[in-house]
Amino acid sequence: MIVLGIETSCDETAAALVERGPDGSGRILSDVILSQVADHAAFGGVVPEIAARAHVEALDGVIAAALREAAVGFASLDAVAATAGPGLIGGVIVGLTTAKAIALAAGKPLVAVNHLEGHALTARLTDGLDFPYLLLLASGGHTQLVAVEGVGRYRRLGTTIDDALGEAFDKAAKLLGLPYPGGPAIEAAAKGGDGSRFSLPRPLLGKPGADFSLSGLKTALRLAAEAIAPVSETDVADLAASFQAAVVDIVRDRARHAMGSFPTRDGGGTLVIAGGVAANQAIRAALNQETAAHGFRLVAPPARLCADNGVMIAWAGAERLALGLIDSLEAPARARWPLTELAAAGEAAA
Ligand code: KG4
Ligand code: ZN
Repeated sequence: MIVLGIETSCDETAAALVERGPDGSGRILSDVILSQVADHAAFGGVVPEIAARAHVEALDGVIAAALREAAVGFASLDAVAATAGPGLIGGVIVGLTTAKAIALAAGKPLVAVNHLEGHALTARLTDGLDFPYLLLLASGGHTQLVAVEGVGRYRRLGTTIDDALGEAFDKAAKLLGLPYPGGPAIEAAAKGGDGSRFSLPRPLLGKPGADFSLSGLKTALRLAAEAIAPVSETDVADLAASFQAAVVDIVRDRARHAMGSFPTRDGGGTLVIAGGVAANQAIRAALNQETAAHGFRLVAPPARLCADNGVMIAWAGAERLALGLIDSLEAPARARWPLTELAAAGEAAA
């Protein structure tokens, strides 16, 4: 089956075509992403109104490019999938409404995809994973450790009680005068820095459970920077490295706790990382060590598929379609939509 996926929940306008075989294997036919990063950079973050307008302008062309790249017409589609939430509501409405129009005009089923489920299921496309597995979803808006037990079946083991991981990177970068998005900027600055120069707090480290807390770390970073102002380039590198070292310790500790509470099969398990923060090499390296120490395997989809993209929505749509989980054209766009409220096969929608 061939599914068109549309993603417009944040600042990427994306569309992709994915083919899912009867054996559950997947193949990417096309993958088009138009980033709005430049439109928002001057504001140091995503401006919802600018994002929604940019999606309106770009989406038709992005979908046409995805169809052209795959040499597939609307008539060959088996379904149209779009992010229906959670996300910036203006953008979500643009993508979902477009998907409904295509579904209606072409007479194809609609799949209203939860953006987080898109991130959660990507590793099944890239690595052919079986359920269950552990997922660390770390993006600009979300930080969750989740037991992925099936399509639509998610058990949350931990989340952030304040800032999301990507948000913490973005805020840290802003206060160090580094560009947006902050994650790649902090990682690059940290490369030349001394991560032991500033001793920053690691909130919740060693505490039971798998929740995260990052706002205290951000405040401590600000105070450390203010104490040595004006900061030199070396200071910024050391501050960035010290911040990243603290985040790495936090992520490692929280993942360790989640793995400890996750029943493994055959003495092993799999931890998948997804979301933009999963691109961070220091975090990947730490999780590689930590998973190995627990008899787990770390699976990290390619960076392009960890950040927001259309492939993950097309694939989640294909997985749901294969289970008969399609949606009506009344499906609502939602700003908020926790993974734990999804419908799975054989269950009524929450
Ligand atoms: O998943 P994503 O592309 O968009 C959503 O938020 O849904 O994630 C973007 C977030 C931003 O906060 C960005 O700063 C962060 O991911 N990020 C990183 C890195 N690359 C992107 N954080 C740390 N290290 C990176 N290399
Ligand atoms: Zn995302």
